[in-house]
Amino acid sequence: MRVLVTGANGMLGRDLCEQLSISQHTPLATDIAMHEGSAITPLDITSASDVLRCFEELKPDVVIHAAAATNVDACERSPDMAYKVNALGTWCVAAACAKMNIHLIYISTDFVFDGKKTTPYTEFDTPNPINHYGASKLAGEKAVQQVCSRYHIVRTQWLNGAQGKSFASAMIEMAKTKSEWTVVVDQTGCPTFTLDLSRAVISLLESHMYGTYHIVNRGECSWYEFAGKVLEMAGIRGVTLHPIPASQWVSPTRRPAYSVLRRYVLELQGLDHMRSWEEALEEFLMQRKILANSN
Ligand SMILES: NC(=O)c1ccc[n+]([C@@H]2O[C@H](COP(=O)([O-])OP(=O)(O)OC[C@H]3O[C@@H](n4cnc5c(N)ncnc54)[C@H](OP(=O)(O)O)[C@@H]3O)[C@@H](O)[C@H]2O)c1
Repeated sequence: MRVLVTGANGMLGRDLCEQLSISQHTPLATDIAMHEGSAITPLDITSASDVLRCFEELKPDVVIHAAAATNVDACERSPDMAYKVNALGTWCVAAACAKMNIHLIYISTDFVFDGKKTTPYTEFDTPNPINHYGASKLAGEKAVQQVCSRYHIVRTQWLNGAQGKSFASAMIEMAKTKSEWTVVVDQTGCPTFTLDLSRAVISLLESHMYGTYHIVNRGECSWYEFAGKVLEMAGIRGVTLHPIPASQWVSPTRRPAYSVLRRYVLELQGLDHMRSWEEALEEFLMQRKILANSN
């Protein structure tokens, strides 16, 4: 299939394009910025006419919409920017898909929930975002639902990709110059490997079971536990992590305290094959080492 990816130069977008090629599909990579020597077609998703023109030229069978304004603090400081990219941008993508009868897969987030539950959120729970990033991504979901009939909304969380700026990579980099730092202990989620997410998203390409799905790795942990596991599995010793409450973390953004997603719709269909976040982390660390050695 010809699969157009928005945000193809991002952490998830890169793995998506790579995995699409491996699985014999044709990735059509688009992103806002031109990158010299890369095969990425420049496309700003906030221009409805550019999006339609691009889709008419590239003629995709499916669009995976991964482009977004993902800096949560920047979204909080500039809600107009967040709504322009995440809500209007998604609307433009959805409208072009609807006009050309293209199947759309929109990547969304756990931040659509308020985090007040103490058990994992299913697809049937009611969103109630508590920050502008979450609200603008939810507005994107609504645009997709209102405009398209052939769509999947895939909510995910705490992404780690070997080809991007992830929390796990940040911990490893930090250990090169510091021997102690603080990590938030009272926010719980599930670290999700972009490779696993990409493969699961690709398995939706031929599905006619349209609707909303949660796709994350298995298990849950706090940022503090996650950081400890990253350092342990990377074999980094001599670092002391200090747990702190989120209230001591300097940020303009309120974040959900508990936002673990349950892959309930996949479970109900007997299609939940996601591995644990610890198993995924092992492969992430291996991939990262291979990438570092090849540079
Ligand atoms: N990272 C996470 O933990 C996480 C968790 C839950 C859900 N998600 C969702 O997963 C998706 C992928 O996330 P990611 O972490 O891979 O994000 P990322 O690395 O920030 O990639 C997003 C890409 O979109 C591009 N972009 C921004 N504005 C654009 C525009 N107007 N037109 C076209 N492209 C634009 C960005 O370009 P610039 O870098 O040049 O701005 C970037 O290359 C997003 O939809 C995000 O909301 C992410």
